[in-house]
Amino acid sequence: MPNKFERTLVILKPDAIHRGITGEILDRFEQKGIKPVGMKMVKLSDLILDKHYAQHRGKHFFEPTKKYMKMLPVVLVVLEGLDIVKVVRTMCGPTDGRNAPPGTIRGDYSAGISRNIIHSSEDGEAADREIKLYFKSTEIFGYDKLDADFYYDVERGE
Ligand code: CMP
Repeated sequence: MPNKFERTLVILKPDAIHRGITGEILDRFEQKGIKPVGMKMVKLSDLILDKHYAQHRGKHFFEPTKKYMKMLPVVLVVLEGLDIVKVVRTMCGPTDGRNAPPGTIRGDYSAGISRNIIHSSEDGEAADREIKLYFKSTEIFGYDKLDADFYYDVERGE
């Protein structure tokens, strides 16, 4: 991975799977020049959700959110790019789809906070932790794109 490039985790949640919009969502990231470097479909367990949502334990939405996340499998994706955590959070929009602006993923697809289509890591520390929670190092693939210089000034990292 070139200097200054970072990775983040997104989860395409059960509502995205059921509504058949995983391809459209991935397309948004790819169109932006963001590179998927790891991807898999899994059925989440209580064990892993307890770890993922540890900071929300005890809150009123903790158990309902776990139930929602187990309704169907999810698609886990590691994305790579410059300032990737911030860029992907902006593309997802605010947590509550009803407050999310049009043009963001939640603004376009989510009708409320309890069914909000996608998760993205909150900051760099969370991204490292969450990527390690879901992926082995052998499941993440570094590769070069021939047209990378038409998305970024790769040499200057800008
Ligand atoms: P996410 O930001 O991915 O991680 C926490 C999740 O809890 C959030 O998305 C929502 O799916 C869910 N959730 C449900 N109700 C709330 C709430 N009132 N506040 C925050 N998150 C909520």
